[in-house]
Amino acid sequence: MSHADDHAGTGEGTRRDFLYYATAGAGAVATGAAVWPLVNQMNPSADVRSLASILVDVSTVDPGTQLTVKWRGKPVFIRHRTGEEIALAQTQDAEAAGKLPDPVARNANLADETAEATDGNRTIPSPEGEGAGAWVVQMGVCTHLGCVPLGDQGDFGGWFCPCHGSHYDMAGRIRKGPAPENLPIPPVSWVDASTIKLG
Ligand code: FES
Repeated sequence: MSHADDHAGTGEGTRRDFLYYATAGAGAVATGAAVWPLVNQMNPSADVRSLASILVDVSTVDPGTQLTVKWRGKPVFIRHRTGEEIALAQTQDAEAAGKLPDPVARNANLADETAEATDGNRTIPSPEGEGAGAWVVQMGVCTHLGCVPLGDQGDFGGWFCPCHGSHYDMAGRIRKGPAPENLPIPPVSWVDASTIKLG
């Protein structure tokens, strides 16, 4: 093998490596975009914008799925319940009456700050054409020491915080474990049938 051949071979190898890493990088960017829609985290001014409102397209959040978006620097869980999940939430509501660790709704959209933590007070109004109780929107920050709870887990099928074992129910109410309060509900409204406004 001549020196020239050797050199050419090395160059080719380097280019292949470069293409490999470029492809991996593009994949990572696409994943990030899916997890944090409409929020450009690479842009420094996103910090400033995040103080205000954001619009979230929820057209792909099918019943039975949850989307996590970042708002004001913190995760917000947007969960679209199935009919079965709504029924389970109603059963939990009846069971929990009078024995919730935190009986307050913690819902920024209610005028009464002492409103009870019923399922109705913990869900947001549904868009036109969909029955009540289909949407749960809440901060994804455990009220114990601030970990991010995991969805579809725990003893109540809602959220589970693995840090110290806090179980939240289908309406994000603390039911078991050290967390003192229900997951707070931020100001939220529908802009149209598939767009939620936070803030
Ligand atoms: S931070 Fe969630 S249980 Fe401690």
